[in-house]
Amino acid sequence: MPEFKGRVAFITGAAHGQGRATALAFAREGADIAAFDVARPLGYPGYAMGSSDDLQSLAEACRQTGVDCLTFAGDVRDDTAVSQAVEATAARFGRIDVLFNNAGICGYGLAHELTEEAWDSMLDINLKGAWMVARRIIPLMMQQRSGVIINNSSVAGLRGMGRLSHYAASKWGLTGLTKSWAIELAPFGIRVNSIHPTGVNTPMNDGLAALEGLTPRQIAERSAGNLLPVPWIEPEDVAHAVLYLASDRARYMTGAPLVLDAGLLSR
Ligand SMILES: NC(=O)c1ccc[n+]([C@@H]2O[C@H](COP(=O)([O-])OP(=O)(O)OC[C@H]3O[C@@H](n4cnc5c(N)ncnc54)[C@H](O)[C@@H]3O)[C@@H](O)[C@H]2O)c1
Repeated sequence: MPEFKGRVAFITGAAHGQGRATALAFAREGADIAAFDVARPLGYPGYAMGSSDDLQSLAEACRQTGVDCLTFAGDVRDDTAVSQAVEATAARFGRIDVLFNNAGICGYGLAHELTEEAWDSMLDINLKGAWMVARRIIPLMMQQRSGVIINNSSVAGLRGMGRLSHYAASKWGLTGLTKSWAIELAPFGIRVNSIHPTGVNTPMNDGLAALEGLTPRQIAERSAGNLLPVPWIEPEDVAHAVLYLASDRARYMTGAPLVLDAGLLSR
């Protein structure tokens, strides 16, 4: 029997990249999916976001595996959109077992040159957005007395990174949220963990490279941090880690950072 049959995964930033790969991996393991994504261009950071077409094709791919998939075009900063999506998911499936807080943006800039728009967008989407979604799902998980929240941080949530201070601040923030929510929610049987990928081969990486006038491989070579001889990892590597953390095999993991860094943080 598929490992997540009868369970429901709510995934933000699901239209492409790591969110999409994770949604598909959950679907293949029998979970019904709620796929939430802004699905429209954003002024900052200036590279392509997911689209409604991406959400539609994800839903079709999930349904082909035999599960149900709801899609929601909304911004994690918008409480009305988030609340409606959570309510519709609970109404359809009766429960939410997994929240993958994955929606996020990235952008380069020296601290003294960042605009307020860049700072606010980064912190509001990457950090506040994770809380905006979790606070609407946690009460349901408390009623169930079960649930797993996984926050997609980054290696930048465990180290400093030049020209990425606003990004690193948002990702360190997620590390703090993870550990604090783990304390609050353990009595309700809810586990909370974070993942910390090195560079991942997604539209984010392609978009950032284009903004810098480089190829994705040149960007990877510029950071040159991985110990293992790979420029980046694949979205499916992240999906494997998320499914592990969401599974009963990780039943005693909470408040933990799971590092997917190809060795980068060992330097
Ligand atoms: N790509 C990397 O190298 C890398 C490395 C470590 C961590 N991460 C983190 O992983 C997560 C996923 O990144 P990715 O590489 O798949 O990026 P991506 O840009 O390919 O996908 C991100 C998705 O999030 C959506 N999104 C962005 N802002 C949103 C908002 N305000 N509300 C709802 N949805 C929104 C986008 O539309 C897009 O579909 C991000 O949090 C990112 O910071 C990325």
